[in-house]
Amino acid sequence: MQGSVLGPQLLINMGTVLKVLVITVGVIAVLGWIAVGITWGVLSSQGPEPPELKPLDWWEHCVLYQIYPRSFKDSDGDGIGDLQGIISELEHFPDAGIDAIWMSPIFESPMIDFGYDISNFYNIHHEYGTMEDFRELLQKAHSLGIKVLLDFVPNHASTYSDYFIESEGGNPEFADYFVWADGYPDPENESNILPPSNWISHFGGSAWEWSSTRQQFYLHQFAVEQADFNFRHQPVKDEMINIMRFWLDEGADGFRVDALPYMIEADPADHDGRYPDNPLSGLIQFEPHQLEYTIPLYTKDLIELYDVVYEWREFTDQYQAEHGGDTRVLFAEGYANISMTMLYYGNEDGKAGTHFPFNFDFITDLSSESRARDFVYVILKWLSYMPFGAVPNWVLGNHDNNRMPTRFNESMVDGLNALNMLLPGVAVTYQGEEIGMRDGYVSWEDTVDVEACNRGDEDTYHLYNRDPARTPFHWDNTTSAGFSISDDTWLPIADDYMEINLAKQKEDARSHYKVYQKLTALRKHTTLSHGEYDIRAFSDSSFYLVRSLRTYDTLVLLFNVAQTADTVDLSRVPHLTLPATVYVASIHSSRDAGDIIDREELTLQRGEALVLQAAPI
Ligand code: FRU
Ligand code: MG
Ligand code: CA
Repeated sequence: MQGSVLGPQLLINMGTVLKVLVITVGVIAVLGWIAVGITWGVLSSQGPEPPELKPLDWWEHCVLYQIYPRSFKDSDGDGIGDLQGIISELEHFPDAGIDAIWMSPIFESPMIDFGYDISNFYNIHHEYGTMEDFRELLQKAHSLGIKVLLDFVPNHASTYSDYFIESEGGNPEFADYFVWADGYPDPENESNILPPSNWISHFGGSAWEWSSTRQQFYLHQFAVEQADFNFRHQPVKDEMINIMRFWLDEGADGFRVDALPYMIEADPADHDGRYPDNPLSGLIQFEPHQLEYTIPLYTKDLIELYDVVYEWREFTDQYQAEHGGDTRVLFAEGYANISMTMLYYGNEDGKAGTHFPFNFDFITDLSSESRARDFVYVILKWLSYMPFGAVPNWVLGNHDNNRMPTRFNESMVDGLNALNMLLPGVAVTYQGEEIGMRDGYVSWEDTVDVEACNRGDEDTYHLYNRDPARTPFHWDNTTSAGFSISDDTWLPIADDYMEINLAKQKEDARSHYKVYQKLTALRKHTTLSHGEYDIRAFSDSSFYLVRSLRTYDTLVLLFNVAQTADTVDLSRVPHLTLPATVYVASIHSSRDAGDIIDREELTLQRGEALVLQAAPI
């Protein structure tokens, strides 16, 4: 009975439970789907948020190109490059993807150091053109969107300058413009006067030169004809500001500032009234007239010089505040250790310095001998020491050093240009690097560089000679490589110009120039202007550089800097998801733009470089 009574009840109850269950499950399911739907909707409509992008000032991610005006393009057939020559080739810069140019000095000069010995800081050197030519150059460059920087050479003036002539002649207004000092009687020879100290010039021999006119020595850290200004004298500092203001008023966008570490020397007031001798280096292979014989304790990297630099930055900032327009920049030249170099950015007290000091580490710390680990180490050195928020920069060559493919290896040209373009900050190109120009051969007879002529002889000049990096630009395969209509050029044309010239590289299916153009175009990519970096060696031979930015494509450089092939494992590259696409490959690579890379194992031939484009992180 109970059973019978319970039976139907149970049946009834079971039915209710089932209904409730079905309804509950149904409601949960519906709610669940709604929840899933909402979540999905949120995810798919918003995705990972793109990062907020800091607006960049014009110079912060620019490609900066150094022109050596004497060797860029000759317009009048005298075998010497000039401003009209530069004007006629201005289209080259937008074509190559270059944003700004800086020109080695174009001012009046007796050309002892090819323009670094300025006799009139306010005028254009006659072989290069006129003030009108300069104005035309500026106007045309600006109309193409190209910024123009001048070379500001504050450390010294030519001994042919009015400043020096007046100073030497004793004009009170200029008497203290230079570093003048009495010598010492030579105990061994009464008719001889010894220089004030043992300081040695950059180009060999004593840094002191006797003036029979003034009956005193003057200081020259470079050539005898380049007298060092006295930066402990306020009128000199004022004059430097006047010079900068003059060219800014003309419309220059800023300055590359020359030879800063040598600006100030020890003050005799701190050394019992004497110019103190530099300590001896103890390097016995050098003779007393050679730079390396001493350590430049009292002649280089003096802390006072930075205050002068910080004042210049105050001046350019103030100039912009008063005149409006784009930022006027200062880029510092100085070969110094990392700490003294970083002080050109500014100091810990918050004083701003130049916008950046040039980073010469690719020149001084790396060569064809370097391994992948050296590259990574040297690159991270700059990035590690750089003050927070500062802009890095990368320099592969300049007018003072052997050209990039000569110091490294020709197989590395595209990889080095790619590295330059893919690293964060400013990429600096020395004229000719975009086509992989190598050093030209310059015989002893043809050598005109003051450093080589002074420090070397027929057997040793090549150790110092800067002319091989200064031979004229190769435009095409015609007379003088299209540099000049004359076949008598100030320096010989390098004999490889038939193979290495711009016109040919524009025609060729693959060329350094075409790679360069693709690389500069890639710099417009937000990942490169704003992204993070990660760089690490795979091995002694190869390394990767990854640039990544949330929601933007990941860009990866793979570069084998060795002279043998190397197989790498792409699963080790952070943020790289396969398949990736080859954006550009070095010219001897078996890969081509557009090729798909979908295997983790990849072999790079000697010098091979690949830039890969992959999905965002
Ligand atoms: C680089 C440099 C040289 C020049 C020297 C003196 O240090 O630009 O080319 O000879 O400074 O101005
Ligand atoms: Mg000319
Ligand atoms: Ca000096």
